[in-house]
Amino acid sequence: MKALVTGMHGTVAPVLAQALRAGGGTVAPWDRTLHPVDSPAAVRDFIQSERPDWFCHLAMGSPDWAGWAAETCAENGIPFLYVSSVSVYAAAQTGPFTVRDVPVPDDDYGRYKFECERRVLAAHPRAHVVRIGWQIGARTGGNQMVDHLDRTHRAHGRIDASTRWFPGCSFLSDTAASLLQILRLPPGLYHLDGNPGLNFFEIAAGLNRLRGMPWTVVPVAGLVQNRRMLDPRVSVVPISRRFPDPRS
Ligand SMILES: NC(=O)c1ccc[n+]([C@@H]2O[C@H](COP(=O)([O-])OP(=O)(O)OC[C@H]3O[C@@H](n4cnc5c(N)ncnc54)[C@H](OP(=O)(O)O)[C@@H]3O)[C@@H](O)[C@H]2O)c1
Repeated sequence: MKALVTGMHGTVAPVLAQALRAGGGTVAPWDRTLHPVDSPAAVRDFIQSERPDWFCHLAMGSPDWAGWAAETCAENGIPFLYVSSVSVYAAAQTGPFTVRDVPVPDDDYGRYKFECERRVLAAHPRAHVVRIGWQIGARTGGNQMVDHLDRTHRAHGRIDASTRWFPGCSFLSDTAASLLQILRLPPGLYHLDGNPGLNFFEIAAGLNRLRGMPWTVVPVAGLVQNRRMLDPRVSVVPISRRFPDPRS
């Protein structure tokens, strides 16, 4: 199985690529320096020349690129994965969200991701569109929670973590495993979230123990939000299973 994967300089795509290769697949990265993404003809030519068995779109590119790629894949019978975000839901919307809850995005990023979802599904009705939560990496660096927490700690000497905020989130390697599982499910919209109900303080404190970080994590009654997502079709390793017992 050959997958053409976008966003390979990012945080999530390399981990998905690793999982694809571990499963015996091959990965062709989309190198934007060689293959432009701002022309429908260039997008079409590159996909048709690669002839992948799967197209996995994880890059933060334009909705046009997403739409053109989806259209080309639909015409050529190539299955399409688009990785979206829990951020399509507005701050005022309260989870846990199911795929039946219609997003009403209230910021630029949410509107952008929702527009990409819309373009992909319009061009390729048999696409897989997967909303993921905040990603958790193995170390600092990249666009993920451990890096955010470490930067917060360095800037303020402490991390104020709300006990009333329930983010959608999952460990990167678990996200990749669940994405592979979703590729085997029927096309459609999916939610991928590994938070079984932990609040942000519990998560930050758990990561502090797990990663052996020197953070001071302080419980606060701050942000009140439930951003969890539910989808009974998708199994994701619960983040709590990764955390060492606080008593040990
Ligand atoms: N990380 C998270 O916590 C998180 C949470 C929810 C959803 N997501 C979604 O997961 C996907 C991957 O996220 P990520 O964290 O890996 O993102 P990232 O680390 O910010 O990387 C995104 C990649 O997209 C490509 N890219 C960036 N700007 C671009 C532009 N203007 N035009 C075309 N391509 C551009 C680059 O890859 P190349 O240079 O290789 O093309 C970049 O490395 C995204 O769609 C994101 O919305 C991520």
